[in-house]
Amino acid sequence: MTVERDPTIWPVVESAVPKDPEIEKKIDALLAKMTLEEKVGQTIQAEIHSISLEEITKYHIGSVLNGGGSYPTKDAKGAFLSWVAAANAFYDASVDPKNGRTAIPILWGTDAVHGHNNIVGATLYPHNIGLGATNDPDLIREIGAATARAVRATGIPWAFAPTVAVARDERWGRTYESYSEDPALVARLGRAMVEGLQGTPADATFLVADRVIATAKHFIGDGGTLGGDDQGDTVMSEADLFKLHGLGYVSTLEAGVQTVMASFNSWNGDKLHGHRYLLTDVLKNRMGFDGFVVGDWNGHEQIPGCTVGSCAQVINAGVDMVMAPINWKDFYRSTLAHVKKGTISEARLDDAVRRILRVKFRAGLFEGKRPSEHPLAGVEAVLGHAVHRDLARRAVRQSLVLLKNEPAVLPIAAHDRHVLVVGSAAESIPMQAGGWSVTWQGRDLDNSYFPGATNLWSGIEAAVKAAGGKAEYSPKGSYKKRPDVAIVVFGETPYAEFEGDRTDSIAFKDGGDSLALLKKLQADGIPTVAVMMSGRPMWVGDHLKAADAFVAAWLPGTEGGGVADVLIADENGAPRFDFTGRLSFSWPARPDQMPVNAGDLDETPAYPLGFGLSYP
Ligand code: BGC
Ligand code: BGC
Repeated sequence: MTVERDPTIWPVVESAVPKDPEIEKKIDALLAKMTLEEKVGQTIQAEIHSISLEEITKYHIGSVLNGGGSYPTKDAKGAFLSWVAAANAFYDASVDPKNGRTAIPILWGTDAVHGHNNIVGATLYPHNIGLGATNDPDLIREIGAATARAVRATGIPWAFAPTVAVARDERWGRTYESYSEDPALVARLGRAMVEGLQGTPADATFLVADRVIATAKHFIGDGGTLGGDDQGDTVMSEADLFKLHGLGYVSTLEAGVQTVMASFNSWNGDKLHGHRYLLTDVLKNRMGFDGFVVGDWNGHEQIPGCTVGSCAQVINAGVDMVMAPINWKDFYRSTLAHVKKGTISEARLDDAVRRILRVKFRAGLFEGKRPSEHPLAGVEAVLGHAVHRDLARRAVRQSLVLLKNEPAVLPIAAHDRHVLVVGSAAESIPMQAGGWSVTWQGRDLDNSYFPGATNLWSGIEAAVKAAGGKAEYSPKGSYKKRPDVAIVVFGETPYAEFEGDRTDSIAFKDGGDSLALLKKLQADGIPTVAVMMSGRPMWVGDHLKAADAFVAAWLPGTEGGGVADVLIADENGAPRFDFTGRLSFSWPARPDQMPVNAGDLDETPAYPLGFGLSYP
């Protein structure tokens, strides 16, 4: 498919971070003395377990990342201080002046996508879909700042967040990483997250100290693929690409986001990693982005003619730093050969390195401090600090969306009443946390990987007790004493990326347990509240019929107590907090309603974008 190209569809963006002539002069001076090898090394990002300290020095490596579920120690529960020790070791290796090398500090990046999620003990915030339901930029800015503090505590200055994907098909396994199907809402919240993570130029610590470098990802159209196919093809006109998937880049570029990650998906059949027009003509030349473009995990491998260890096309298209986690050495060697042969021009290499150095200067990497010398480095208390847990709990409260409450069983006036909580999901922190939690997929974990977290059951138990009632927990739905009301908790089990793609239908399935439980309680004449944790809206028509009240809780993270704050009334029966969450995605009315988005003329959702009940 050939598409008309018109860069004027995209706005010229004025970044909050102007070019600093002093920094540009310093970059000129560095570039003038760097060897070709040193320059190529700067463009390489390796995984922390696939490279040695000697290799960081020898190959002048520009960056490392720890992938999802990768820690400096073998075990997730390894010593907290191992993070800062690793950061120091990488830094020392990168500035080692051996053999007259140019000393350029290395940049470590990490997926802090809902809090510092690879770290055991960190406060985990609701995934983006829940934050979208809060529609509260101030809250999201605070979460960004809190996440930045946690990342800095581990000695890391760069977060691969926020995802500004606009998920347009719930079959996509990354729907929960998207704030909304509504591009304007994504733009508003994406900007706030960047302002929180990086700070703003008005903040004394903009990009340094307790702030980090942010990443707008994945450029562009990741949420628009046909069938919600992860890494698939987004087929649409350029005008639609901008309107539906571009606004989050305008807002985050305005906020001064310093890095943009290229996406795995294609646009009209062409992979973004090799897309010179979108990466260079549009993003850099038209929109004025002067930070650097980082590739995604082996994203270059998918370009026709490329391999995991060689790909001139991505560099030529505009990727400045290549995420070559395992095969970085082959990539380094082949890129060096490409430059020597002229398949990659020296001018392009210089431009890539200039951009990387610019971001390193802006983020204070050249100030001569080892990672451990930064104010928050090694301060483990930051991770699960009460201020952060309170913030996350507030986010949980604000993210809950009440879909049904008829007859009104919520809020539960628990005084003198017996409240039954049903379903093993009610005490599963891994289910609350979802993917990108301690491991990539968020699987193979139990509650011991989330010290300090509260689950839904413990939160409800405490609130019911405080109101003067009694709570009973029953994973399978049996009870000793007939309850006055039952809360049935269920949801999706964790997944990330393509492993979460659905192809068959958008119906919620859990082997029928939750539905059978709701029906049994209904048959017993017990009022029921359904609480669903999920990474997306799903068809739950039968559950909705079998429950008196239905709450969409998304993937709330470690502070499950926030659910009880809203569901359980005080000792006088008055609500302690109201429902303020509103759907940031249309809720499907049929198992085969895929996709459904606001504005579709031939589809009517069960609940529209913006829907959400409050207490009367
Ligand atoms: C994901 C990115 C992530 C990267 C590093 C990729 O698979 O698409 O979102 O930042 O891995 O973990
Ligand atoms: C890594 C993730 C990465 C994924 C990409 C995993 O092995 O841990 O960080 O996003 O691979 O496929």
